[in-house]
Amino acid sequence: MDISIKQFLSLNDVQCEERIIAAKAALGKRLVILGHHYQRDEIFKHADYTGDSLKLSRQATQSSAEYIIFCGVHFMAEVADILSRPDQIALLPDLSAGCSMADMANLEKVEHAWQELSMILDAEAQITPITYINSAADLKAFCGRHGGIVCTSTNAKQVLEWAFTQGEKILFFPDQHLGRNTGYAMDIPLEQMVLWDFDKPNGGLSIEQIKAAKIILWDGFCSVHQQFLPEHIEKFRNTYPLGKVISHPESSFEICQNSDEVGSTEYIIKTVQASPKGARWLIGTEVNLVNRLAQEYPDKFIHYMAPIVCMCSTMYRIDPAHLLWVLENLVAGNVVNQIKVLPQVADEARLALERMFDVSR
Ligand code: 13P
Ligand code: SF4
Repeated sequence: MDISIKQFLSLNDVQCEERIIAAKAALGKRLVILGHHYQRDEIFKHADYTGDSLKLSRQATQSSAEYIIFCGVHFMAEVADILSRPDQIALLPDLSAGCSMADMANLEKVEHAWQELSMILDAEAQITPITYINSAADLKAFCGRHGGIVCTSTNAKQVLEWAFTQGEKILFFPDQHLGRNTGYAMDIPLEQMVLWDFDKPNGGLSIEQIKAAKIILWDGFCSVHQQFLPEHIEKFRNTYPLGKVISHPESSFEICQNSDEVGSTEYIIKTVQASPKGARWLIGTEVNLVNRLAQEYPDKFIHYMAPIVCMCSTMYRIDPAHLLWVLENLVAGNVVNQIKVLPQVADEARLALERMFDVSR
């Protein structure tokens, strides 16, 4: 019988720590723990591999471990399940660790949009659907069966370039900002990137707007990155004229336009790492990563972009108590919190993911 979570919830982080180490040691090579950069330190330190979404999804294809514990959010564990061997088991320590942006698009709404677009255009021939990896597996499967593809914040430009070789238009979901920021960096004018309001008929757009668009952007966003505002950058630049600004592309168009550098979590880390001693950075991404950079590089000045703490509350749900609970169950021979994507969905989603790996090698 599974060991209940109840007895773990009263443990503090220090009590969990030694038991996590012991359970990991007991499982040895049968286990791999993947940790996203936004995880809190008490979890991050137990990860065998850390990275951004792209790096961790590649890691999931390379691991030979029987159990893959994903310390991240739900869509990441789904990707690990889709890309791993059928006999490997993907686990998410807390099933409520979702992604609010991923939840802004669902299959019903995307299929409805596709039907509406098909009344105006030859959608299959003219539009390539792209889903950001921050999306449910059935949306990746939708892209797989409609000649589409997945992207991450690292490879979005290469993916969009590929998509334009397949058709003249792109339907991009769920993150409008990643789509717009990437399209603009590829010289697509803002007027040719229209916003699809999924609660309105034809996305709230006219037939002329849809026909003229190069990219149709889903009206989704990340509530964490949305909190960075142009005045935060302005204040920093006024105080530190020599300082540099770096942002994640889930931030708004204005933020990305006003930043010196824009890139994925992995890109942000590498850029700060490579900067000279004494460099000063204003960073627009999740707070756990920014705090970690400040600790790891005391020779640099690291500033957080917002005056308030912008934490990904769902990433934060992965805590030592839940990690320990999953681990001790595995040691006892029980699998709890397995993430299993239905085989047909997984097959079609894998198609879209493999297209992404092919274009971003
Ligand atoms: P990365 O791919 O840059 O890690 O981003 C994932 C994410 O969810 C950022 O909010
Ligand atoms: Fe989702 Fe935003 Fe959290 Fe990333 S930071 S996992 S996009 S809610």
